[in-house]
Amino acid sequence: MSVHSQAKRVTVPQLVAAKGERKIAALTAYIAPIARLLDEAVDMLLVGDSTAMVGYAMPDTLSITVEMMAAHSAAVVRATRHACVIADMPFGSYQQSPAQAFANAATLLSAGGASGVKLEGGQALADTTRFLVERGIPVLAHVGLMPQYVNTMGGFKAQGMTEAAARRIMDDARAHAQAGAFGVVLEGISEPLAREITAALPIPTIGIGASPACDGQILVTEDILGLSGERIPKFARRFADAGQVIQQAARDYAQSVREETFPTLTHCFGVRSEQ
Ligand code: KIV
Repeated sequence: MSVHSQAKRVTVPQLVAAKGERKIAALTAYIAPIARLLDEAVDMLLVGDSTAMVGYAMPDTLSITVEMMAAHSAAVVRATRHACVIADMPFGSYQQSPAQAFANAATLLSAGGASGVKLEGGQALADTTRFLVERGIPVLAHVGLMPQYVNTMGGFKAQGMTEAAARRIMDDARAHAQAGAFGVVLEGISEPLAREITAALPIPTIGIGASPACDGQILVTEDILGLSGERIPKFARRFADAGQVIQQAARDYAQSVREETFPTLTHCFGVRSEQ
């Protein structure tokens, strides 16, 4: 079955047109059951490489592959009809050359069914953005705190805190906008800088740990659902405690099995119901 089902799905041009008109609400999604539940509520679902840490308990995002991202993307696309699905380009899949980026981005669109890709990087990656966009692949750039740069950043730290660093991030965002990116994720930067970038760019900014002034917001879904453990980042808010609900359901199930109150004969095959 094709993973492409475009009926009524929010498009990339519609996301661009939202700038200045309405806020864009976005969340991450990696698997079908969660994507299905989020779909109607948000404009964009990001199949983030954060699934490396959130879904696979890896220490960082560096080890996830294009094949894994394409499989997650296909699951999210198959389970949804409304939100625009954007897939992250994983570490090592686009930094080498624009041609390498095109081959891997094409897989995320063809096998993964995504409507576009996100890539992390500053001005050095702007040519890659241009190369992809000119060949029909919408690009969401990601600047500021870029988790794939954890080794050069020396950890997951807020970025752009000096004037020089802030100017660099502004230039990074501008470079991707000029290269044709349809939007820019601003992660982990100072609020005034995020506000300034949002005012300066003609394309939407999507903030995470950035500013309420951004054109849209994105969070990791597990953080807002209480599925990330006790601690969530300063910039997130827990909107529900699904973790507690799941834990209690598991306890209730286990107790029913041990007490032999589940299953009953109504859950079995080949049992005649009484007339
Ligand atoms: O991978 C991811 O989930 C992301 C978002 C948090 C922006 O990049």
